Amino acid sequence: GLPRAVRIWEVGPRDGLQNEATVVPTPVKAAFVSRLLDAGLPVVEATSFVHPRWVPQLADAEALMTDLLAELQEEAVGLPVLVPNEKGLDRALALGLRHVAVFGSATETFARRNLNRGLAEQWAMFAPVVGRARDAGVAVRGYLSMCFGDPWEGPVPVDQVVSAGLRLLELGVDELSLGDTIGVGTPGHVSALVRAFQRAGVGPERLALHFHDTYGQALANVLAGLRAGVTTFDASAGGLGGCPYAASATGNLATEDLVWMLTGLGIEHGVDLDRLVATSAWMAGHLGRPSPSAVVRALAGT
Ligand code: HMG
Ligand code: MG
Repeated sequence: GLPRAVRIWEVGPRDGLQNEATVVPTPVKAAFVSRLLDAGLPVVEATSFVHPRWVPQLADAEALMTDLLAELQEEAVGLPVLVPNEKGLDRALALGLRHVAVFGSATETFARRNLNRGLAEQWAMFAPVVGRARDAGVAVRGYLSMCFGDPWEGPVPVDQVVSAGLRLLELGVDELSLGDTIGVGTPGHVSALVRAFQRAGVGPERLALHFHDTYGQALANVLAGLRAGVTTFDASAGGLGGCPYAASATGNLATEDLVWMLTGLGIEHGVDLDRLVATSAWMAGHLGRPSPSAVVRALAGT
């Protein structure tokens, strides 16, 4: 059967905005995060503490988190932020933040493109980040990119993904988010990957699935994940997003599309769809183009 409830991990302010060429003003980003929390999303990933030259859109991470801490206090402390290395962790800890995420690659080529490090060096870079975060009692998520296919290396074998995922879990991350960065995965592949992790001793309760909707497969892939027992799904309000270091990565699965399907299946998610759609329509206005989400277009008439 299907799970009774799921946790939606909202990535719009981070994965969604990181690929936008036009820089969104900090107060608009802060309002976006607040509105997503008001819509009932239990986890809103707010920004990244990466090198500002690599992701110029998120160069205001300190300013944004300072605004959110002033407005939301304790609630802002728990918002997850991406940190690639110790420098990023230091920046997050300096603000008192208590939830971070490292982001690795299952493939050598994407590790080099995204982190300027090979696979071995990426693990070496993450080890002190995860170790220090855990010692400080800070929660750590581990992302793994290119879990289904890679634009340079082609299809990525399930065994290679499981080995990379185990490396991240051995470092001590609390949960592992498996990313279909370029959206090429299909449901049978999702089931096979979740089963392979189970065989390696990692149950679906420790996994999250992170789908980009490039090939229109994201919702079907979520259903395969639900059937395999996964209960955390990443999604981006209005379907914003992509990865600036993977040319073929387009928007994430739209949170609205996910919410619509979960509601239809009778699975609890806690999100107020009307508030969420209003938020995405408002953000589409700021970005100057309609949301790619089918549900946003149907309900907001954008
Ligand atoms: P590097 O150039 O190798 O950095 O970049 P470095 O360690 O050699 O340091 C060079 C300079 O950068 C130094 O300054 C450091 O202090 C500074 P200098 O001494 O020359 O003045 N520096 C930093 N400054 C601010 N914040 C930092 C930081 N680190 C070093 N954290 C680095 C290596 C990892 C920094 C770089 O490659 C980087 O920032 N990459 C981020 C790429 C990124 O954000 N990609 C998008 C997120 S991943 C994604 O979207 C996929 C996901 O959604 C899942 C999926 O879909 O699959 C998660
Ligand atoms: Mg992503």
